[in-house]
Amino acid sequence: MFEGNPFPGLRPFEFDENYLFFGREEQVTQLLQRLGNTRFLAVVGASGSGKSSLVRAGLLPELHGGTMTSTSIAWELSIMRPGGDPLTKLAQALVESNLFGDVNEENVLQTRATLSRSGLGLIEAYRQSDIEEGSNLLLLVDQFEEIFRFRQSGDKTGQEASHFIQLLLETARQTDFPIFIILTMRSDFLGDCAEFKGLAEAVNEGEYLIPRLNRKQRARAIEGPVKVGGAEISPRLKQQLLNDIGDDPDQLPILQHALMRMWDYWLN
Ligand SMILES: Nc1ncnc2c1ncn2[C@@H]1O[C@H](COP(=O)(O)OP(=O)(O)O)[C@@H](O)[C@H]1O
Ligand SMILES: [Mg+2]
Repeated sequence: MFEGNPFPGLRPFEFDENYLFFGREEQVTQLLQRLGNTRFLAVVGASGSGKSSLVRAGLLPELHGGTMTSTSIAWELSIMRPGGDPLTKLAQALVESNLFGDVNEENVLQTRATLSRSGLGLIEAYRQSDIEEGSNLLLLVDQFEEIFRFRQSGDKTGQEASHFIQLLLETARQTDFPIFIILTMRSDFLGDCAEFKGLAEAVNEGEYLIPRLNRKQRARAIEGPVKVGGAEISPRLKQQLLNDIGDDPDQLPILQHALMRMWDYWLN
């Protein structure tokens, strides 16, 4: 039996919350198909449109299902946000996926050194890792737009941002090693991609613009978790919620927050 609140509120759905994640079935299928043809995908949309949730709770758990028949079944996942130090964050994500022995500071530093050495650093890291031969590696760079904070700053952080992007692009360019890259990025930063050589081109080739949930999908996003939580929602309340949010895509976090609060209220 499920215990707790099946609605995450303002935060995104996480990888282990796939069973609470509803309304995005079609988009997950589309993304899986895309990933069968390309190894670089940029999931783009407004802030709060559901990018992180779609990839973390929708797409990634499905990879293990082996739906992507054209590639090997084994997947290693590394998830990061670039923050102020993308190379360290990448090294940490790889080490935390248990690809480089024990999870400790020394292995993070060593992996970071491998990544820094050349533009092929991510491929080199894959080669040196404990990853089983032929296994896929998927790197999710969530909130990729954080990288643009350092644009044009000629200093060390600016160079590191360029190097990080070069690592991603060089990896996407090759097919010898099964490394897949997914970015999520706010659409208002799309124009900034042109500031890094090759990035705009890569994003053009692998862009996925996230659609808003339609009314039917929004209904599923309400009913689904209620059911998993072992409860029921009256048709009238559901209609009221759907009418109140309407078609405004900015309302998804608000709906989610309202549902979370309502659940707590019901419990008491
Ligand atoms: N399929 C969904 N059903 C219900 N709520 C969702 C769904 N996808 C996202 N949300 C909610 O919408 C808000 C924004 O989602 P998030 O994934 O963080 O968007 P983004 O990464 O685009 O900013 C969060 O409150 C999240 O819980
Ligand atoms: Mg996000």
